[in-house]
Amino acid sequence: MLKELRLCEADRLAVRKLLVEIGSDPANLEEDSFLNHAALLAHELPIGIRQALYDFKLRETSAVLLITNTPVLPQDVGPTPRSHWHPGERRVLNLPQIMHGLYASILGEPFGFDTQQGGRIFNDLIPIPGAPSNSSSGEGRIGLHTEDCFTLFSPDYLGLLCLRNEERAITTFSALWPTKLAQAISSALFEQTFVPKRVAAAGSGYSMLFGDPERPYLRYGAIDHSKCTSEMTSALRALSETLEKNQQEITLVQGDCLYLDNLFAVHGRAAYQPQYNSNGRWFCRLVMTRDLRKTRHLRAASDARIMLRDKY
Ligand SMILES: [Fe+2]
Repeated sequence: MLKELRLCEADRLAVRKLLVEIGSDPANLEEDSFLNHAALLAHELPIGIRQALYDFKLRETSAVLLITNTPVLPQDVGPTPRSHWHPGERRVLNLPQIMHGLYASILGEPFGFDTQQGGRIFNDLIPIPGAPSNSSSGEGRIGLHTEDCFTLFSPDYLGLLCLRNEERAITTFSALWPTKLAQAISSALFEQTFVPKRVAAAGSGYSMLFGDPERPYLRYGAIDHSKCTSEMTSALRALSETLEKNQQEITLVQGDCLYLDNLFAVHGRAAYQPQYNSNGRWFCRLVMTRDLRKTRHLRAASDARIMLRDKY
């Protein structure tokens, strides 16, 4: 389920050199201007790294790709932000975030939402006292889920860069592989229409599985059980049990990059005890789509990366 790419020393040095070079242009430290050509800059990454990311994308070689031994130095990181970004604030990218953006750009186009963190694409997952226990700011357990799976803007990939994790918070993930569901369960999940708990249009529904029955893609989100038959409810239960059984845990350390294929892998987080200071846990989250065009009507321009709430 998880494949690890541990950078060799030569690649580590080459990435470091590239990051310093890119970071020496102040325009590259701004989110917008960096992302506007990150996909081009990513061509300069060592071929072994591009190959691993491209295989992950094209050949679906694993549900999760972990990149370790990256050239991140403690002094690159800076203090953990105490709040999320707000429009008008200047918050420059650090070298590890630039690295994350380069890797992410090989998988797809990073994007964001005007309703999340003021429209910041490089999301900060940081502990904020008194904030809701969600993945951006809280400390509680987050159950396994597919990111935004019942939406048009459901990402193809989700990337987590660990900037700091002294609390050793655990990230959880799972996938159906290598389990093969019983035929009747699989058929129900492919063929029946499941209605999400939060759905914009009444009557909208989805299959939980789609694609190749031998290696299905998965949408795993909260379902309205009152709209399920008993066959659907037991199929859902079997799916949940399988994902729980296959669940793995990882404690990311500074510089680790974890990329999840959002059509295969579900993810979550164990509860943890945060430090509310400049050494608090700090992950940088990016979501990527293979195709920005499918959400053109939700964005202001062809190259705009922000989904506008009043349009979806
Ligand atoms: Fe999530």
